[in-house]
Amino acid sequence: MRLLIIGDLYGQIGAASAIARSRGAKVAHVADIDAALAALRDGQGADLIMIEVREDIEKLVNLLMRERFNLPVIACGVKNDKDAAVKAIRSGAKEYLPLPPNEELIAAVLEAITEETQSVIYASQAMAKTIAMADQIAPSDASIMITGESGTGKEVIARYIHKKSKRAGNLMISVNCAAIPENLLEAELFGHEKGAFTGAVARRIGKFEEADGGTILLDEISEMAMHLQAKLLRVLQEREVDRIGGNKPVKVNIRVLATSNRNMQEEVKKGTFREDLYFRLNVITLDMPSLRNRRDDIKPLAEHFIEKYSKANGLPVKKLADAALAKLMAYSWPGNVRELENSMHRSVLMASGNMIETDNILLQGAPEPIQEKAGNTITMAKPASGNTGGLVGRTVDSVEQELIIDTLNYCLGNRTHAANILGISIRTLRNKLKQYTEQGAAIPPSATGTE
Ligand SMILES: Nc1ncnc2c1ncn2[C@@H]1O[C@H](COP(=O)(O)OP(=O)(O)OP(=O)(O)O)[C@@H](O)[C@H]1O
Ligand SMILES: [Mg+2]
Repeated sequence: MRLLIIGDLYGQIGAASAIARSRGAKVAHVADIDAALAALRDGQGADLIMIEVREDIEKLVNLLMRERFNLPVIACGVKNDKDAAVKAIRSGAKEYLPLPPNEELIAAVLEAITEETQSVIYASQAMAKTIAMADQIAPSDASIMITGESGTGKEVIARYIHKKSKRAGNLMISVNCAAIPENLLEAELFGHEKGAFTGAVARRIGKFEEADGGTILLDEISEMAMHLQAKLLRVLQEREVDRIGGNKPVKVNIRVLATSNRNMQEEVKKGTFREDLYFRLNVITLDMPSLRNRRDDIKPLAEHFIEKYSKANGLPVKKLADAALAKLMAYSWPGNVRELENSMHRSVLMASGNMIETDNILLQGAPEPIQEKAGNTITMAKPASGNTGGLVGRTVDSVEQELIIDTLNYCLGNRTHAANILGISIRTLRNKLKQYTEQGAAIPPSATGTE
């Protein structure tokens, strides 16, 4: 976990850094936004930025976005300055941290952002085998191809391998090859010199160089364009990268892990993936079993997620009723562990008592319960009653607005949780809220919340 602090946090930088360091974070400090950008371009990576609330946070967020540094920004300010906190969140900060720094709060923020406490949960034979194989191959420097359906835990196992490897003390940098547009992925991976192309305002170190000494995870590698595959092959063969616009190659010492949810051999046959690159990467393959083929994992995983989301919401840890577990065991989990996680997250928020009952578990294709308003919170009615009498006469837009705002209130303003329950993306949620504000709707303070 690497923390970059901008400014002196109103004289509290010493205390804040000490707390972050004591929690295992590496802390770097720069005077202002320009210096922060320079450090990032130079390959001094960060996982999180802390900045004084009086700085121009909007400018920082925009610059980070423009240069595709995908980093959460935490605004720090004097306690109880509500206006500054709201302004910071509106400008794109993820959280507002009151100063002087509180040990527990900083620890919670670091934990939420890094998810480094994440462990691999399993009880099945199939996963035991996969883990045994991962243990065996982790210490070598061999490239590993991790395949498996979406949501089976490919990234989780990649992190596990890195942590068990000789490189554990160094970084693991992950690049999602599917999420970054083709023309930008090249610069992202290989870096560029100043002026290499329009928009290359300064030299930028690529991910391979950033990962030097550690591991690079090329997520969804099958989505990489052919000409980049050729460039990647050269990196693997020569262990050096050519920055775009650069005139001499740079040596890198990296281990490559790659993931894909496609059948790579078929991609090679179809001609969309280079065979030579496939052989280079595929020194060892780990195939993640789908959740329906390792049902013994369902119970421990469900309990793990229930505990995780109960704690994250400040609730006592709820228990899974036997009938509810039976419902989980009977389901096919097309979205694998990710779907189970989302489903448990929702059920923790929906269950009003200490038990998670069958009705609190919504599965894909199962009828959604009708949401009824009760004071400021939402209670979940029994599903499929077909009784919409109370809503007839209202427009879809007005019901939608009320539902969104109530759900946000219910989640104490946490947009990620609310979007999950509503079954929409955070982006959609953000747009809707913006629209409501523009229309002059009264949005309660908690609903302006965090993500
Ligand atoms: N064995 C496990 N123990 C704990 N959590 C897990 C486990 N497997 C998966 N998860 C959780 O499930 C979610 C999906 O895992 P991950 O992102 O590793 O899957 P993936 O195969 O990379 O998915 P995708 O193909 O969609 O990228 C994550 O939130 C992860 O933390
Ligand atoms: Mg993944």
